[in-house]
Amino acid sequence: MTKKTTPKAPASAKVSSSKSKTKLPVAGEGLPLGRSGQRHPPFGVGLWNVGRWDASDGERLRAAVTRALERQIPWLDTAEVYGMGRSERILGDALSQRDKSALQPFISTKLSWEHLRPTMIRPALLGSAGRLGVGRIDAYLVHAPDASVPIPPTVQMLETLQGEGRFQHLGVSNFSLEDLEIAQGSLQHSEVVINQIKWNLLEPGEGSALRDHCRKTGVVLEAYTPLAGGVLAGRFLDGKGPPRKDSRSRRGAFAVEEGETNPLLPRARRLRDLAVDAKVPLASLALHWLERQGAAPIVGVSSPAQVDELLELWAKVPTQRLLDRAEGVARGDED
Ligand SMILES: NC(=O)c1ccc[n+]([C@@H]2O[C@H](COP(=O)([O-])OP(=O)(O)OC[C@H]3O[C@@H](n4cnc5c(N)ncnc54)[C@H](OP(=O)(O)O)[C@@H]3O)[C@@H](O)[C@H]2O)c1
Repeated sequence: MTKKTTPKAPASAKVSSSKSKTKLPVAGEGLPLGRSGQRHPPFGVGLWNVGRWDASDGERLRAAVTRALERQIPWLDTAEVYGMGRSERILGDALSQRDKSALQPFISTKLSWEHLRPTMIRPALLGSAGRLGVGRIDAYLVHAPDASVPIPPTVQMLETLQGEGRFQHLGVSNFSLEDLEIAQGSLQHSEVVINQIKWNLLEPGEGSALRDHCRKTGVVLEAYTPLAGGVLAGRFLDGKGPPRKDSRSRRGAFAVEEGETNPLLPRARRLRDLAVDAKVPLASLALHWLERQGAAPIVGVSSPAQVDELLELWAKVPTQRLLDRAEGVARGDED
């Protein structure tokens, strides 16, 4: 394992602009954002759960967002649907109070699948920008396609808004290969530079053709749920899963059809044992495996301590040999 220094400054598109003097502080040099000449930060923090807490969690989650800015996490991801605007609002509040001498992180947010009709897009975008308190959003993603709304008019309206300078980079999320090709083929001047998909060591999904297409056409793969909801940070491995009210109890490593067992938990335990033997945190394996696939992981955090831990996890880079072994274990080679 090699040790990286803790980042001192964010790695954002702004950081890599010609005016910037700051170099990317973390692994790699980030990922090229299409033809823009800018680069996408190699990892970031996602603010999904910041939109959906019980009242008792509010202060802790606000503090996590503030800590993410203080520690100069290079990229923060949110969406208008997270808490019906609450996640964006809290990020906007924290941005307005941050140390203005610090470089601003790369901010991405998403257009709801309920607002894909062209007349709905401008108000949705302006709503997000207003809550975030930014004149221009760094990356604006279509959160998910809706089979009842054709893709071309949606992305063409987004192209118009991008041309007005409302946001810098156009992305999509949860798009299949076919959806992505339609979106790419509908644009006149712009390009889709991001596809945010669910992807982690334990749940590689069925999308290898999609991922190859993204790599070939210069679309950054953002990997959401990179820790399999915490399982790949060593959570829930000792018999006790998340509480029933927690949506994680019904998906991923915990989703079990009647009469079946889910192989993911035993594999996660083997991965934990592998990590312990190698003296590398399990989550470092998970995050750097994605990095080696050319993806940018977007990690969910629910406390300031998890922000600090993320920076430590990212700083610990496993060897390629260990990552290959982990991939085999995750695939079930040792079942
Ligand atoms: N585009 C989409 O449709 C979509 C869908 C889902 C997610 N996302 C994005 O991806 C982000 C991350 O996804 P996610 O929250 O599903 O997945 P995740 O990153 O795989 O898991 C996050 C959870 O892992 C646990 N965790 C994090 N750091 C830890 C640490 N150091 N030690 C122990 N446990 C730790 C926390 O659980 P506890 O809270 O229990 O502590 C945290 O809530 C979201 O916030 C969102 O921005 C996008």
